Amino acid sequence: MSWKVVCPEGAVAENDLKEFEVDGVMILLARAGDDYFAYPPLCPHQEEPLRKGGCDGKEIFCFKHLWQWDMRTGACTGTESRVPLKMYPVRKTDGTVQALIEQPLEYEYEV
Ligand code: FES
Repeated sequence: MSWKVVCPEGAVAENDLKEFEVDGVMILLARAGDDYFAYPPLCPHQEEPLRKGGCDGKEIFCFKHLWQWDMRTGACTGTESRVPLKMYPVRKTDGTVQALIEQPLEYEYEV
């Protein structure tokens, strides 16, 4: 178990989403105010890139079918959303944003 540097603080604009590769693991970083949140990069519905959606400081949404989640908890908030977002723990240390990545978080997709 180890904390990995994702990026310098400020590398993601407020209310924005950005993908990073951290030791071979792709993660999506979102920012709300001075807080950062890290998720697997693909939508749990049909594997679309969540970076194509957006966030508003409270919720994150997928562009494809507009599933929505609470940015801070990953809980479903939209009426269509059925699968919560998985999240990596995040901390800010020494001017960097770090994520606790033990293994890639993935979803089970229906075929
Ligand atoms: S693929 Fe994201 S909501 Fe359907």
